[in-house]
Amino acid sequence: MTILDGKALAEKLKGELKEKADGLPRKPGLAVILVGDDPASRTYVNGKKRDCAQCGFYSEEYTMPATVSQRELLDLIETLNGRADIDGILVQLPLPKGLDAIALLDAIVPHKDVDCFHPVNVGKLYTGQKGGFLPCTPGGVMAILREYDIQVAGKECVVLGRSNIVGKPMAALLLAENGTVTVCHSKTPNLAQKCATADILVSAVGKVGLVTGDMVKDGAVVIDVAMNRNAQGKLCGDVDFDAVAPKCSYITPVPGGVGPMTRAILMENTYRSCLRHLGLED
Ligand code: GUN
Repeated sequence: MTILDGKALAEKLKGELKEKADGLPRKPGLAVILVGDDPASRTYVNGKKRDCAQCGFYSEEYTMPATVSQRELLDLIETLNGRADIDGILVQLPLPKGLDAIALLDAIVPHKDVDCFHPVNVGKLYTGQKGGFLPCTPGGVMAILREYDIQVAGKECVVLGRSNIVGKPMAALLLAENGTVTVCHSKTPNLAQKCATADILVSAVGKVGLVTGDMVKDGAVVIDVAMNRNAQGKLCGDVDFDAVAPKCSYITPVPGGVGPMTRAILMENTYRSCLRHLGLED
């Protein structure tokens, strides 16, 4: 069994991005909008700002109170859309109640949508059109699989969770690599049975202990996207790591697996966006 070291791969990718970014006429720029005081979101945003600094990118943070109006946020996005030094705009999710997240994400110009949440970029992802962005978390998973020479073509891939952020785009990327993809969710019957067919199992549900040893086929590749806290307050994923790991050929740890790669792909998207804005690619 091999532990898939997403943290090490993310560090390598960020190092490569820094070298490439240092050769550009200006720094790639990322604007991050954080609304309200969700502590997990605060941690994620701090991490993204740290990554920008590490890659030699420019970053700006807009911290807004939960009482901010939809109009004010739309105006901010409009301003950032027009800024020549900003290549990526990210609205940290979830947003406080009362705000229309879909309308805000739709207001970001697609060529600055480094999260790949805008319908234009989601459409490009599904149709295989060039010029969009990689969805960050699923893109990070694919980069891990590639780094460890894990083939997807012809494999049974089971994705747990159907969110717009992870489950759906994960299925699209695995399908694009010629996997046979099953997406399971809260209404799926016989979940254990479905999981046990998987050569590659990706869990993105957010439920401690969801994936147990009996649900995993011998030799499977298990990717744990979730970020939960267990009863002791310790960070953990959906997978019962101690029970599942001995059965796997490869498995991601939590933390140190997919999480750092999500942020590395965000940096890669910001860099690519900058190249396009400078007329140097695509
Ligand atoms: N919240 C959880 N994951 C993400 C993500 O990838 N991007 C943004 N903007 N918010 C998130």
